[in-house]
Amino acid sequence: MKIFHFSDIHAGSDKHFRKENLLYIIDEINNGDYDLAIFTGDATNEGQRHEYEIAKEMLDKIECPLISIPGNHDARSGGIALFEEYIGPQNGIYEHGDAVVISVNSAVGDSNDGRIGRAKFNRLKKALNDHSEKEIKILAIHHHILPTPMSGRERNVLANAGDVLDLIQKADVDLVVSGHRHYPNVYEVEDTVYINAGTASSVKTRYGDVNSYCTIEINDKIKKVITKRLNGEDTVRKYSRNRKRVFSEFGKKEFRAIQLSNTYFSESNSFLAQHYEEAVKSIRMLDPDLLIHCGGIVKEGIPRDYNIAISELNKLDFPMVFTPAARDINYLGYQLFNQYFGELDQKYNNEKMLFQGLSTPQYDSSVGVVGETERKLLLESLNEAPQEFRSVYLHHNIIPIPRSREKGLLEDAGDLLRELVDAEIDLVLTGTSYHPYATKVGGTVIVNVNSMSSVYQRSRFGNSFNVIDIYEKVIVVSEVNALWGKKRLLGIWERA
Ligand SMILES: [Fe+2]
Ligand SMILES: [Fe+2]
Repeated sequence: MKIFHFSDIHAGSDKHFRKENLLYIIDEINNGDYDLAIFTGDATNEGQRHEYEIAKEMLDKIECPLISIPGNHDARSGGIALFEEYIGPQNGIYEHGDAVVISVNSAVGDSNDGRIGRAKFNRLKKALNDHSEKEIKILAIHHHILPTPMSGRERNVLANAGDVLDLIQKADVDLVVSGHRHYPNVYEVEDTVYINAGTASSVKTRYGDVNSYCTIEINDKIKKVITKRLNGEDTVRKYSRNRKRVFSEFGKKEFRAIQLSNTYFSESNSFLAQHYEEAVKSIRMLDPDLLIHCGGIVKEGIPRDYNIAISELNKLDFPMVFTPAARDINYLGYQLFNQYFGELDQKYNNEKMLFQGLSTPQYDSSVGVVGETERKLLLESLNEAPQEFRSVYLHHNIIPIPRSREKGLLEDAGDLLRELVDAEIDLVLTGTSYHPYATKVGGTVIVNVNSMSSVYQRSRFGNSFNVIDIYEKVIVVSEVNALWGKKRLLGIWERA
């Protein structure tokens, strides 16, 4: 099956729209033997009738079957009604031989943010379920689900990106095609390939880049994705299908780390002392090589809370590393963190393993940032590290977390994620949003941990911490209920 994917044409006045580039792309579609073309939104710039007229005139030239969805720009000025009049339905299910394409409108009127509301989410879930037997499952959605690199501040995200990501992964979707950030990018998450086509014909490209589109070839063995830039630069990526999912050979166990966050040590009612006491017993039994605290150590950055933290943590005598969350550095927190825990960016390493901390919070803000300079230094030191296993731990999430509103809380999550995946970092640990989640992006296993002992947590499994067992051949991640010690597997991944 051959698919042509393009996005963000932004038809309208010459100020925004490069008509000649779109005409070139339409020629490419009509001169190729594509089974299907998918357009992932932003047909217009302002959702106006005269723009829809141009968009329709253009899209009507496409000779193969075309599936179109609206973007946030199409929903401006109530333009969504015009989308239906000129382009087509907002949502749909299209069967094409062995394939199904499910398209979902994620645009919210007069907002750049995306959302798949409850009714639509349930319909998407049902559609994926009803078509689970299809050989090829494709989802088309305008807003990006994973943070996009080279697009500046991570924003206009899909509010429920975490739930959507989780649904897509559970439903074994083959391809997710998107647009919106006007920068072409491709990620493989487990067996799902997430494609962002960039913009076909808007003048608003990023970092001096040119307009772009994608071609996708999919058969029973591989998915081949080519990002095509209009300057003739092609990037070819191939992903194998039907990869091994059950592992019987783990090899020797090399390391056990405990990952925890949001302990909230304090005299406040939000610190669950009994959960902490019981978790201490479980952790002692698990006998880890290292304990990694991903931030939210204290409730507030005040001496009283830090004193409680130190006396509570003294109950554990394993090597420990810490990275701060915003609450750890507010008030006197900066000095106290230094005084009690040491450096902001701590690390643990032995001959084979490196765990590098990365401090991301800012004063009095829930928004975290690494920063361009800092990222560069981090990547340099990671690339020079002699250890065969390299891990980075930080507080803020770099992939969306289920059961929480995605807000793009790490400003440069898009760049950081791309850089860590490209550097083939083995493991990234985060500790925010009060819900556990683990998946693999490219060759990088990414694990978020729930709160261990705060009343604020979102998991039906209850407060928990994670156990990360690193074997010669696989990484096994489980969460352990803080109060009862019950263990639940989050995933097993083959080591690169
Ligand atoms: Fe756009
Ligand atoms: Fe958009």
